[in-house]
Amino acid sequence: MNEVDEAEVMSKAHVSLDDRSYDIHIGRNLIGNINEMIPFSLDGRKVFILTDDNIEDTHGATILAALENSEAASVQMLSLKPGEQTKSVAHLFEVTNWLLDNQADRQSVLFTVGGGVIGDLGGFAASITLRGIPYIQVPTTLLAQVDSSVGGKTAIDMPQGKNLVGTFYQPQAVICDLDVLRTLPLRELKAGYAEIVKYALINDESFFLWLEGRAQGILKGDVETLARSIEIACRKKSEIVSQDEKEGNIRALLNLGHTFGHALEAYCKYDGRILHGEAVAIGIVCAFRLSVRLGHCSEADAARIEKHFETMGLPSKILDIKPAIKATSKQLIDLMGSDKKVFQGKVTFILTRGIGKAYTTREVNLHDVERIIEHSMED
Ligand code: GLY
Repeated sequence: MNEVDEAEVMSKAHVSLDDRSYDIHIGRNLIGNINEMIPFSLDGRKVFILTDDNIEDTHGATILAALENSEAASVQMLSLKPGEQTKSVAHLFEVTNWLLDNQADRQSVLFTVGGGVIGDLGGFAASITLRGIPYIQVPTTLLAQVDSSVGGKTAIDMPQGKNLVGTFYQPQAVICDLDVLRTLPLRELKAGYAEIVKYALINDESFFLWLEGRAQGILKGDVETLARSIEIACRKKSEIVSQDEKEGNIRALLNLGHTFGHALEAYCKYDGRILHGEAVAIGIVCAFRLSVRLGHCSEADAARIEKHFETMGLPSKILDIKPAIKATSKQLIDLMGSDKKVFQGKVTFILTRGIGKAYTTREVNLHDVERIIEHSMED
């Protein structure tokens, strides 16, 4: 085996959920030393790695080599086609069949190595195979490191909508290796950044101020700023998940920008025109603009967000999506209705009283939502 540099754990966050608590490790050279971050012995266990074809030969191979060098009884890897289409019933059962065909037992461990698709799909498969086997999240995109890998939401998409079938099932650890982000396309890095900003906008204006001053460094490869941003984001998510695992109340705030964003993604049918983080950025601006329209938020705060997204190379309007989408506001509002956050026929909106002051409401007149969508489509 090749020499591997020592792991440098720069910081940790902790999700505190009684016997389902776990650490999030953030640092450099982590995946080649992954054995050091597993919270139990692999001795005699069957180990499974789920990844995708984009990273099978790179990060997948690094983790495979590290785990083959452990006390595990066996190590096997399955690689799936990248893309949202993989979060399907067919692929879910491909994964469960692979585990069962290889005699997985309840001591077996699944490592999900990839972005949100692999994390959500693999986590779901782990939660239902043998009524639950342990799994470890190894997110390889910024978006997955700061959001989808933390908090135990697992899911597949259904013809009726995104993430409509899934479970709450916590991983045993999350391993965020900054080095894997070095090969991430810039567009994906920017899209992941939208989820970092989200935490600041929910409840921390001083974090937003810090990001306004520093975040451009992330796009220029400043590892310290990247590490600190991921750490703060993961800590913020951990705090919320530790208080409200099953989204009974405050966890819903993490959906800031998602009500509008999911409708845009669904309209585009995940054809690559818009990445999840880009949809969230546009959705956040729509949520701020709606809050301004309702008299709850200042125009200055909404303009500040738009300017920040522009500085970070993120879209802030539906008009920015290329090729242009031809949806009507009515079509997008109908798509919001197929979101799982609908209750008694009313869509849940995350609105704001200003930067760092998000709140949830279902008392929104859809006429106002229509106007906001139309504005977002105009020059
Ligand atoms: N991505 C939102 C949540 O985990 O609750």
